[in-house]
Amino acid sequence: MFVQKPNLLLGRTKRRKFMPLAQLPPMGWNSWNTFGWQINEKLIFEMADLMASQGYREAGYEYLVIDDCWSLRERGKDGRIVPDPEKFPHGMKAVADYVHSKGLKFGMYSCAGVRTCAGYPGSYDHEFVDAQTFADWGVDFLKYDFCNFPQSGNCKARYLTMSMALKATGREILFSACNWGMEEPGEWMRAIGAHMYRSTGDIMDNFVSFTDIVKSQLNKLCMSGNHCFNDMDMLTVGMEGKGNVGLGKVCSYEEYRLQFVLWCLCGVPLMMGADLRTLAPEYRALMLNPALLRINQDAECRPPYIVRRDSVCIPNPDDAQAPWAHPADTAFVLLRHLTDNEFALFYANLSDADAEVHCEMADMGLPVTGGVALDMTDVFSGEHLGPQKDSFNPHIKAHDCRLFLCHLVKDNA
Ligand code: GAL
Repeated sequence: MFVQKPNLLLGRTKRRKFMPLAQLPPMGWNSWNTFGWQINEKLIFEMADLMASQGYREAGYEYLVIDDCWSLRERGKDGRIVPDPEKFPHGMKAVADYVHSKGLKFGMYSCAGVRTCAGYPGSYDHEFVDAQTFADWGVDFLKYDFCNFPQSGNCKARYLTMSMALKATGREILFSACNWGMEEPGEWMRAIGAHMYRSTGDIMDNFVSFTDIVKSQLNKLCMSGNHCFNDMDMLTVGMEGKGNVGLGKVCSYEEYRLQFVLWCLCGVPLMMGADLRTLAPEYRALMLNPALLRINQDAECRPPYIVRRDSVCIPNPDDAQAPWAHPADTAFVLLRHLTDNEFALFYANLSDADAEVHCEMADMGLPVTGGVALDMTDVFSGEHLGPQKDSFNPHIKAHDCRLFLCHLVKDNA
């Protein structure tokens, strides 16, 4: 008798339970940059309230993530990690429930090593029980660090183990790997199932730190895209020198704007790190800027094209022999293709003096002979500059940038 084989494909379709995660760069808030070990239930509830009431959730910031230092120093008798009852007196399920009640998703933190960076229990050799514990609590996102990883351990294999452990729970949990760029994560994190991967050491709240991160990653963004994004670390925008990764010295508004624009342009996850309770209105407006978020969340997830990356030319008044200086890696022009034939065009002057940043349109693929110009609108001022051809050479203050949304127009002149 002929027995019809079950239609495996159909069965699979019927069983589909999950939406694809991290279609676009994940967005949210993380406790580490400002609060470090000083976290507790009340703080997390306050952040959830603000994310829901001040427009962050509507703008797409959906994950509220508790970083390191949430547990007791030792596991319980049953082998499970125990939340610190002083910090989280009602346990983690209650925190998750509260976060969910605000229409947000809840993230937690563990480590691929035997201990977290702050010395709390890590998940090495406990991956399956810990993943199940997180799932039981209602966790939607796991940040997975790399401290205290055994020398004999295999980094890739252990990240794969946790990825499998999360999937085995049957709960949809975004896997946010954080091995600081060890073993070229862009080459294998997508393959082991991670949805984002930290690619550098920790950000600090200053200009050098965040620009170094960008400089180290610009050439690697080609490996970042839908469902698995290069994570350039949590934002320090608006921290104003305070908190766990604050250094006392306050970044200027222009420097924070530069940071946020770069994270948007690079299409990387946007995890806020500032205290939302005291965040100055201009930084809230910056991180909610619809044009910038639209660039970050563009559906095609393309990396920016490096049109120019070299040195600005600035006066060197102290040296009569060399009246001009060319500080390395200070002039940037980046062009990002967006959906609908739109482009984001970015100019930056990372030097310590004001300078002109020159750029030929031919270097953007628009030679004069093409008869096509770039119609530009300044994102910060809203000014419509109209069609530009030949070259565009804005004067830019030290540590500042310009950003334009553009489209192509026929140049009949
Ligand atoms: C670091 C990680 C930071 C933070 C910290 C917690 O390794 O890069 O983002 O999670 O550990 O101890």
